[in-house]
Amino acid sequence: MTLHISVIGCGYLGAVHAACMAALGHDVIGVDVDARKVEALAGGKPPFFEPELPELLAETVATGRLQFSSDITDAAAATIHFICVGTPQKRGENKADLRAVDAAMTALLAVVKPGDLVVGKSTVPVGTAERLAEMLAEAEPTATLAWNPEFLREGHAVKDTFHPDRLVYGVPDDAAGERATALLSRVYAKTLADGTPLIVTDYSTAQLVKVAANSFLATKISFINAMAELCEATGGDVVQLANAIGHDARIGRQFLNAGLGFGGGCLPKDIRAFMARAGELGVDQALTFLREVDSINLRRRVRMVDLAREVCDGSIVGRRIAVLGAAFKPESDDVRDSPALSVAAQMSLQGADVVVTDPKAIENAAAKWPDLRFVETVEEAVADAELVLLLTEWKQYVSLDPTEVKRWVKLPRILDGRNALDVEAWRSAGWTYRALGRR
Ligand code: UDX
Repeated sequence: MTLHISVIGCGYLGAVHAACMAALGHDVIGVDVDARKVEALAGGKPPFFEPELPELLAETVATGRLQFSSDITDAAAATIHFICVGTPQKRGENKADLRAVDAAMTALLAVVKPGDLVVGKSTVPVGTAERLAEMLAEAEPTATLAWNPEFLREGHAVKDTFHPDRLVYGVPDDAAGERATALLSRVYAKTLADGTPLIVTDYSTAQLVKVAANSFLATKISFINAMAELCEATGGDVVQLANAIGHDARIGRQFLNAGLGFGGGCLPKDIRAFMARAGELGVDQALTFLREVDSINLRRRVRMVDLAREVCDGSIVGRRIAVLGAAFKPESDDVRDSPALSVAAQMSLQGADVVVTDPKAIENAAAKWPDLRFVETVEEAVADAELVLLLTEWKQYVSLDPTEVKRWVKLPRILDGRNALDVEAWRSAGWTYRALGRR
């Protein structure tokens, strides 16, 4: 049966959630304070790059089942309200900035009706749901708050929303909680019918599941990158090592790709906010290992610049260096905490003549890093380059023909920051190939 849903916050998470909920057959209104974003979405166009989203958005907007507005009162007709706003890192602090979450809740209080369900999806410090539930109960005692964390990956967001690894509901342990569970299971009826595992739990666990999952993923990446440091010191090969340990089903091969490490709008800020929250809760020791996870990750960026210097015979000053990739990962135009841009900026600051290209992220990157030089194509980026760095493993870069690229550069030297290239193919085409954690 059709449910009436509002989605507050229409960024990477909210826009995808709204479109997917409409595609599941619900009536959805997406609300965002950014009028330009609302206008683009209402016209069926996402204001960011996400595979499959343009088609889904155009289709659901055309049916009239999905609408967008910058006026919160348009959410009044909905009975289920999803909070999907961002929780970025506070400037100069490790904590999460909860201003958007608080503003979304405050705005919702003006429209929420008896019996409505408010559902938090944003990644928040544990304890936030409890606080929001109190705010809601004060304004409308018959409304309920549920916490339903989102696990989608950028670049796979539509698929991850329709087919998540699991659904988690954090609800109160009473009749209102049971009703919230039943309502959410109507929202996700199709997903559940596909056999998606469901975990119904309390607020704390639901909030912790999200940050625990992201901390584990970040730890896995930093673990393999720490092994890369050992490989560099011993002449070992981190890719073979990852393959070998990954065969152990208890370890698994996923998220063991060594290289430049993790970036983006989630993993880095989530582990920092988690550490900050543990400190507030008096259990900071439980998460001190995440400080190491963070430092190992940031060290990879420094090592990449060092390797560039090493390959350029001790100095990158004045050297023409091409950087392939600006997004924090392929299939995304997101440049938040992008390891690629961090390396490009460092090399530029140290006097190298850096030129960056990316299939989707140039506009976002140029807005954030106006001092860097950006070009549209690989050919322009590598023209006369003395060194090429692959820093985001877009498939169009991974499948480049080394013989063709060799014709455009000044010196055929490549650093593979993502261990993504076919080493033999590049070496046999006459390139000096170097990578992090490999001979
Ligand atoms: C992540 C989580 O995967 C997702 O479940 C959560 O909801 C949000 O945070 P996302 O940030 O979109 O998603 O990207 P993800 O695919 O997890 O990659 C994160 C970073 O880790 C990227 O910079 C990627 O390049 C890097 N990474 C990933 C590695 O360096 N090595 C790996 O083996 C995997």
